[in-house]
Amino acid sequence: MVPDESIDMIVTDPPYNAGKHYGLANDRLPEAEYLDWYRWISRESYRVMRNGYVYVSCTVPQLWTLRPLWEEAGFSFQCLLIWHGANYPNKAAVRSQWRLCFEPIFMFLKGAKLPMINAFPFNTDAVLEYPRPQRNYRGHKRRVYVVQKPLEMYQAIIARTPGQVVLDWFVGSGTVAMAAKSLGRDFIGFDLNPAAVELARQRVGETCRIELPLAGFEQPGFDRLMANVL
Ligand SMILES: C[S@@+](CC[C@H](N)C(=O)[O-])C[C@H]1O[C@@H](n2cnc3c(N)ncnc32)[C@H](O)[C@@H]1O
Repeated sequence: MVPDESIDMIVTDPPYNAGKHYGLANDRLPEAEYLDWYRWISRESYRVMRNGYVYVSCTVPQLWTLRPLWEEAGFSFQCLLIWHGANYPNKAAVRSQWRLCFEPIFMFLKGAKLPMINAFPFNTDAVLEYPRPQRNYRGHKRRVYVVQKPLEMYQAIIARTPGQVVLDWFVGSGTVAMAAKSLGRDFIGFDLNPAAVELARQRVGETCRIELPLAGFEQPGFDRLMANVL
C-alpha cells in the first residue's frame, strides 16, 4: 500500500486490455469491467499523489474513454504527448487503414501548476521520437519484455518534470525505474507478474537498490484479472 500524498510524479504504462500475454494478468476483460478497474487506478493515483504530474500511456480509442476517469478522480488535463516510434511493426497496417506508428501519452496534474525543468539536451516537443526497442538491438535498446518502451523517452519525460519521488504502477521490464534512477530521482513500482518484477530488478539493480513488491491484491476484480493463470 502506497501512503497518501507520498508521490511527486506518476509515469506509467497500463495494460491496454488488448489481449497481450503478460504471463499472469488477464488483458482481455469486458470493457465495462476494464473501466471499473481503471477507475480504481485513477483514484488510487490521486490519493497517493502530492502536487504533481501524471503521464499515462493509452491507445487511440482510449483517449475518449479514459480522460474522463482521470478528471473524475480529481486530475486536470494538461497535454497530450505522442510517442512516435517510426519502427513500429508493419503488420499493424494490414489490420488498420493507417500504420499506427505512435502511442498517445496523457499528461494530467494534481493541484497547482508546477514549473517545468529546462532539461537540456532533452527538447521540449510534445512529439517524442524514439525507436521502439527490438530484439536485435544492443544494450538498453534491446527488447527484453513484451511491450517495452524506450528508455530515452522516459528520461526525456522525467528530466523535464519536477518531483523527486516517481511511481510506476506497471513496471514491466523496469524502464521507468531505470530512467528515474539515471536522473537521480527516487522510484517505487509494482507489477503483477513476478517475472517482470525479477527482470526489472535485474535491469535496475546495476545502478541502485530497489524494491518492487508484488502488488495488486487489493485491486477490485483481482480474481478476474488473474483468471487466465495456468
Ligand atoms: C505495458 S506493460 C509495461 C511495460 C513497461 N513500460 C516497460 O517499458 O517494460 C504493463 C505491465 O502491467 C502488468 N500488469 C497488468 N495488469 C496488472 C495489474 N492489474 N496490476 C499490476 N500490474 C499489472 C503486466 O504484467 C505488464 O508488465
